[in-house]
Amino acid sequence: MNKELKQRTSQLILILAGILAASAVLNAANVKELRSEYRTNPLGMDARFPRLSWVIESVRRGEKQTAYQVVVASTPERLAQGKGDLWDSGKVASDRQNQLEYAGKPLGSRMSCYWKVRIWDRDGRASAWSHPASWTMGLLHPGDWKAEWIGVNQTAAASASAPGVLAHGKLRIDNDVHCESATNWAKPRYLRKSFTLDRTVHRATVYATALGLYELRLNGQRVGNHFLAPEWTDYHKHVQYQTYDVTSMVRNGPNALAAILGNGWYSGGWQHWTPKLEVNYGTEPFLLAQLEIEFTDGSRQMIVSDDSWRGTTNGPLQFSGIYEGVTYDARLEMPGWDTPGFNDAKWSTVTTYQAGDDLKAGRLVWQRSEPIRATQELKPVAITEPKPGVYVFAFAQNMVGWCRLKVHGKVGETVELQHGEMRNPDGTVFTGNLCVVSKHRAQSDRYTFRSNGMETFEPRFTYHGFQYVEVRGLKEKPRLDSLTGVVFHSACPEVGQFACSNPLLNRLALNILWSQRGNYMGIPTDCPQRNERCGYTGDAEFFMRAAVYNMDVSSFFNKWLVDVCEDSQLPGGWFADHAPFFCPAGGGPNIGWTDGGIICPYEIYRTYGDTRVIRDHYAAMKRNLEWLAKESTDFLFTGRVGNGDWLSNGGGAGKEVIGTAYSAFDFHLMAEMADAIGEGKDAVEFRDRAGKIAAAFAHAYLDAEGHIRDSSQSGYALAFTMGLVPASLKEKMIERFADEVRRFDWHPRTGFIGTPRLLPGLHLAGRDDDAYKLLLTRTAPSWLYPVSIGATTIWEQWVAWDGKTPQGGMNSLNHYSFGSVGEYLYGMVGGIQPAAPGYKQIHVQPVIRDGLTWAKTSYDSICGKIATSWKVEADKLELDVTIPANTAATVYVPARDAKTVTESGRPAAQSDGVRFLRMERDAAVYEVGSGTYEFEAHR
Ligand code: BGC
Repeated sequence: MNKELKQRTSQLILILAGILAASAVLNAANVKELRSEYRTNPLGMDARFPRLSWVIESVRRGEKQTAYQVVVASTPERLAQGKGDLWDSGKVASDRQNQLEYAGKPLGSRMSCYWKVRIWDRDGRASAWSHPASWTMGLLHPGDWKAEWIGVNQTAAASASAPGVLAHGKLRIDNDVHCESATNWAKPRYLRKSFTLDRTVHRATVYATALGLYELRLNGQRVGNHFLAPEWTDYHKHVQYQTYDVTSMVRNGPNALAAILGNGWYSGGWQHWTPKLEVNYGTEPFLLAQLEIEFTDGSRQMIVSDDSWRGTTNGPLQFSGIYEGVTYDARLEMPGWDTPGFNDAKWSTVTTYQAGDDLKAGRLVWQRSEPIRATQELKPVAITEPKPGVYVFAFAQNMVGWCRLKVHGKVGETVELQHGEMRNPDGTVFTGNLCVVSKHRAQSDRYTFRSNGMETFEPRFTYHGFQYVEVRGLKEKPRLDSLTGVVFHSACPEVGQFACSNPLLNRLALNILWSQRGNYMGIPTDCPQRNERCGYTGDAEFFMRAAVYNMDVSSFFNKWLVDVCEDSQLPGGWFADHAPFFCPAGGGPNIGWTDGGIICPYEIYRTYGDTRVIRDHYAAMKRNLEWLAKESTDFLFTGRVGNGDWLSNGGGAGKEVIGTAYSAFDFHLMAEMADAIGEGKDAVEFRDRAGKIAAAFAHAYLDAEGHIRDSSQSGYALAFTMGLVPASLKEKMIERFADEVRRFDWHPRTGFIGTPRLLPGLHLAGRDDDAYKLLLTRTAPSWLYPVSIGATTIWEQWVAWDGKTPQGGMNSLNHYSFGSVGEYLYGMVGGIQPAAPGYKQIHVQPVIRDGLTWAKTSYDSICGKIATSWKVEADKLELDVTIPANTAATVYVPARDAKTVTESGRPAAQSDGVRFLRMERDAAVYEVGSGTYEFEAHR
């Protein structure tokens, strides 16, 4: 190459590099993770003003969004051309990146909305447009539903001779009647309809739901991947419908739409407390389905559930119950029953029912939360034969879901699967903690072979909590791979990661996650195995601060808070202790549980900046406050407290203390929530009352030495986390708190109410040394004791078993309340906490004490990923921190002197994007913008 050419080439390279660098800067910020109503491309929503959000990615420190533009179009083509025929926000100077309400043309039923967004960075440069995202609208008006509720009227036909009696809308079945033989026990229904299409399909959508549970089929295939749809609501008040895009499943020509219908929470058995099986909402299941087809020529057609459908109860699924399990007789299979060619002449006509008249179905609403779906499959690790012909499969994990069985058999032979969490000393599966109050089965599935050969069975319309499965009825020994565990739950995105130098703590973090998976089943439940599985408001509330680090629970709680605040508030004004609420005999106030109706909305506001939950439930929450005030004398709560510090073990708190502490806390949180939605006058009133309650609390329950009346660890935990420590008594109360921890030799003795607040309380008291000791204690009772003997989920009781002898009764091995300690792992050990609602401001303060040498924590907040990673060696500390774009953080770097602190090798105070604020106790405190920072310091 001659010299001139060389020069030109290098000039060209320089120019090219310049262009590349310039475009890199131009695109310094990228917009991703577009979501509407917290969901990625949701279908069928009924929110008329969906809330939009996105995450900003940037390689620069201190990145900010100074403006945004959202474009929403009715077709992908228009969106691509930048034509926002539904909404073009234009350039809006704002740093808002979530909770942004759609403000375009009114949204109507069935509309498709395609959207994209771009932002302007801190220098005012525009990002590229995001990838497109979408949502569709569902059926917004009752009149949009042309479908009718259909069912197979078995009860009417059988009621004369049935062993059960219909009384006050409740079906009671005597104890000694086996559920499958009770004629009144609604058998699963098979429903179908053939139809022909004569044009080319452009788009096909099914809107469907059931009273009971349903699985929809189209042309022989399953529609969607939901399990246990439509999930649990108070069906008399709200019923969720599901929306499925079935464009690729329908065809020009003959088609068949079909469904299997089972009992579930709506109808079927109930094993809760009473020795009778009771149905809570209805006695038989019904289906509502509407298939809407748009053709390429613009015409439309609907196939709806109506009296033209055919139905039978003689299909292979003979019985299904959430708690009991299923019975499936493969000899009764009807090949092709869900395809167009099937001859359904022997099936009967279906009966149609008018909502309101014949059946009580509440308002139809879209299913806003992530559906219950299979998220993983697990293989057993061992198989034993404790008795001849009795095989027990063991999994390494206590899980929730069901099993797929693939085995050889002979026609007519029945195999039974009994699921349980523990094994008896003789090696068989223990069922003593399933609390079966009647003679009915629990967690057991039965399958009858249709042929002599290999067959595969997988249940539906039930779920089990189990680590062990006893298989009976096989003539030959199954193989280890004959059984597969299918794990399913509300599939909220998992957003947290925690690891540290102590493997037991890592397993504890995993156990907490597993218990959350297993208990988030449409609603947050207490347990997945025994005769309860209810939406206890207390359990959900106690666990919530840990829960939000593990999963994005925004849409899950947006749904459930309707169950709690709108559907389960009792006439007296208090929130029921479980939602959906179904226990007419119970329902008295239960402090700590009742308050879930205020604390859970607050946590959703705190975590996601969600003010709509506050607005939606404000009136209900105010009624709860009015009830609290009515039940108080001189600001002390004197009403019914209920359970108190449930399952505490000598370290609880007095009931009066609990009642008044919660009352102060509720008013305090409501003041903050009132401010957040512009109800300033209320805020002043609530704050004033919270102050008066706190003063009354101090006067009535604290003595001059800082003792709290009738209280041990839990009392102090409440006081420190609920703002009930008067400045004048603080030092003494810290000492008393520490005394109660020392008294039990650093073992937690708290119950459901005190446990979530124990370590955070010690943290606020400046006693993290004690908190670490409690956290790392291995002897019982403690968090690590179960882990040390092999637990893989969180136990209901501190000492649920010794690893050898199973204890029956109320002894769930999968109950997440004590897993509330996850808050300390993420929030304190990892040091990640919101400093402003929705993590717009982040508080990073890792707590580093003896016992751990490193921890790595990350959390995908609604604004993007936050991460910390710290390591100590002798007195040297390394702390890496990642803060997402468009947020800022206050970072506490443990250091004896700010001068020792460096960031990326430079004195921290001089580092790009880092501002020294102050020394605070044993930490140098900095303000940082977004980006990744590498601090080093001497402690
Ligand atoms: C549940 C608990 C629940 C309590 C309320 C128990 O049976 O399993 O987790 O909070 O009842 O009373």
